[in-house]
Amino acid sequence: MSKIRVYELAKMLEMSNKDLMEVLEDLGVEAKSHMSSLDVDTAQMVEDSVKAKDKKNSTEEDSSSDRPSIKVSKGSSVKELAEIIDVPASDAVKALINKGMMIPASAQVDDSVLSVLSEVYELDLEWSDDSPEVVEDAPLKTFKKPILRGENLKPRAPIVTVMGHVDHGKTTLLDTIRNTNITAREAGGITQHIGASRVHHEGKDIVFLDTPGHAAFTSMRARGAQCTDIAILVVAADDGVMPQTMEAISHAKAAGVPIIVAVNKMDKPAANPDRVKQQLSDHGLIPEDWGGDTIMVHVSAKSGENIDQLLEMILLVAEMEELKADPTVSPEGVVIEAELDKGKGAVATVLVQQGTLKKGDIILMESSWGKIRAMINASGKQLKSAGPSTAVEILGLSDVPQPGERFIKVDAEKEARDSISAKDQKRREVANQMSPRMTLEELYSKM
Ligand code: GTP
Ligand code: MG
Repeated sequence: MSKIRVYELAKMLEMSNKDLMEVLEDLGVEAKSHMSSLDVDTAQMVEDSVKAKDKKNSTEEDSSSDRPSIKVSKGSSVKELAEIIDVPASDAVKALINKGMMIPASAQVDDSVLSVLSEVYELDLEWSDDSPEVVEDAPLKTFKKPILRGENLKPRAPIVTVMGHVDHGKTTLLDTIRNTNITAREAGGITQHIGASRVHHEGKDIVFLDTPGHAAFTSMRARGAQCTDIAILVVAADDGVMPQTMEAISHAKAAGVPIIVAVNKMDKPAANPDRVKQQLSDHGLIPEDWGGDTIMVHVSAKSGENIDQLLEMILLVAEMEELKADPTVSPEGVVIEAELDKGKGAVATVLVQQGTLKKGDIILMESSWGKIRAMINASGKQLKSAGPSTAVEILGLSDVPQPGERFIKVDAEKEARDSISAKDQKRREVANQMSPRMTLEELYSKM
């Protein structure tokens, strides 16, 4: 009998995988993930049930439609939506926070934001029909920390993500910490990816991930926050809390990660750290010297002032977190960044989260696989093995994976190749057969 995968059904019903999984649970249909298969009868039953519910909802909406109706394009940000409904963006963000949703103004509006803002402003906010299909970002859910395996748990280096508004000095701070000079090499001085580096301080290692502050890179910051142990929030003392500062706070809070604030650019005459503290307090980060529990260090990435103190604080917080991993289990981790290099082919920087990755290992990701031909660390050194909390560039992949994809080690090339080609095949079939409005019957007639 023909089968259909949950994600295919979700696409046909124009729902997210997550929403459909919830529907399946309500209906008592067993499905482990969006990759699970359903038989035709079950899929039909689910389709009927979703359509019946849609109909009911639309009749309910009709009865309350004395509210002004406003069409919203998919892909709009909260700020853009606020402009359409003519309220200050900060009001909309506050309204969302009041409903327990930490969502920055630059984030894309989704169904839940639409429904909350409809209630708050007594409007009928609806998606406009001609909205372009929204391309989902890399699967953030899969970026989380892995479940700890093994009995040989050993202390591991903390993963520290540096976040903050554009130009507040994140990369310069890391340069000073590493004594290198990366800012000078970046296009226009703007960080466009998550760089990874390892620093040795007072006998201990710290792994730093740099993130971009530019408004366009929301998902990269979210990913950075999700695989990290500690977030360093860089705020320029002369500029204060800005939109991406707030966004970084909400990512770190959403990921449940402790935040250390680096109040940067203290060398500047216009530096006003008290104003920064006041603004951060307004966002729930109360400094220790004001009776709160947020560590804030006044630094200058330029002069190097208090950088040692910042590193001390990082090691202190890391110690409290008691970070451990078993280096002897089968390796797994996450892709931080990946690109196609003209000479080297598909290269990916991965973070090993547990186990030890070795040259020659066969690894499998969501969209790519490979036998590791070479592993290179941040200082350009070739490695034979990489244990927990190590970021390495790997060569030998079949394709460029998406940042956020998890990797695992598999035993045989065939296993990896089969898994990827089955996925490719399925993807091609779905792409060929699907138009967004096709019904199940139409799809089955093609199977
Ligand atoms: P994005 O990656 O684009 O988000 O920026 P960033 O936060 O990494 O900022 P970056 O380190 O590129 O620094 C931006 C500018 O601020 C550069 O011109 C730096 O030289 C300058 N800067 C950074 N830290 C300091 C500091 O402590 N004092 C002074 N005076 N300037 C600084
Ligand atoms: Mg930068």
